[in-house]
Amino acid sequence: MKVGVLGAGSIGSVVAEALRDGLVPGAELAGVVDPALSPAGLPMCALPELLSTSDLVVEAAGQRALTDAGPQVLSAGCDLLVVSVGALAADGLLEKLLAAGPGAVHLSTGAIGGLDLLRSAALLGQFERVVIETTKKASSLVQPWMSEAEAEELRQATAPVELRRGPAREITAAFPKSANVAASVALAVRDWDVVEAAVIADPAAPLTSHVITAAGPAGEYRFEIRNRPSPQTPTSSQVVPYAVLSALEALATPRAVFR
Ligand SMILES: NC(=O)c1ccc[n+]([C@@H]2O[C@H](COP(=O)([O-])OP(=O)(O)OC[C@H]3O[C@@H](n4cnc5c(N)ncnc54)[C@H](O)[C@@H]3O)[C@@H](O)[C@H]2O)c1
Repeated sequence: MKVGVLGAGSIGSVVAEALRDGLVPGAELAGVVDPALSPAGLPMCALPELLSTSDLVVEAAGQRALTDAGPQVLSAGCDLLVVSVGALAADGLLEKLLAAGPGAVHLSTGAIGGLDLLRSAALLGQFERVVIETTKKASSLVQPWMSEAEAEELRQATAPVELRRGPAREITAAFPKSANVAASVALAVRDWDVVEAAVIADPAAPLTSHVITAAGPAGEYRFEIRNRPSPQTPTSSQVVPYAVLSALEALATPRAVFR
């Protein structure tokens, strides 16, 4: 399977290097597209070239890039593995991507787990309550829409503070780099409205945590994930590129894997 990578930032560069170094059985690197970066040792190219040489494109370029380039990737016949899952909070984008094929759309599990069980349980019966609470280092949660006073308060915080709590769609839009996980949970349970998301800033948090609780006809669930942040990009977790690599391995090689 020839894999193109869109975005050579903290996630895309790790994915591209691993593919280049042959670490994913059955997959090889076709090329990398990034308008701003050209990391040494990676075969950079333009999007049309990437689309003509790839079977699958990993989107690790951000919400805007997924919206702009996603349909083009799929209509060129390439499959698309989406990392910027939060973009799918925008009304109609997922439907647009699904209709743009022949390429197929895959979603990366990214920073969290438990999505498989939530998906199975939602099939048995609609969830009554789903909550995802994300706690990150305060300084990584400053957003452009915050007033200077609010941003400064966050930078100087000495104790944990809940920044926002509300419907998953709203929280995903308010924290585009930190609430991809809320979108992933909403997509797994197939119900944006039932999912409440909260973002908590903790100045002392050494790890990024996501606590997912859910209750419905299938049972009651609680998942707690505590990820080490990426040293380059503290809004992201170190494991995220490895979620992409594990998905690529599952897609590229016929072997028994969990789906
Ligand atoms: N699903 C999850 O759990 C999860 C977890 C962490 C991050 N993410 C998301 O993954 C995405 C990438 O994160 P990152 O930390 O690697 O970001 P990053 O900012 O380090 O890298 C993004 C790169 O994409 C490039 N880019 C922008 N527009 C592009 C385009 N049109 N074509 C090609 N490249 C383009 C940028 O120049 C940049 O180098 C973000 O949207 C982030 O929110 C998802």
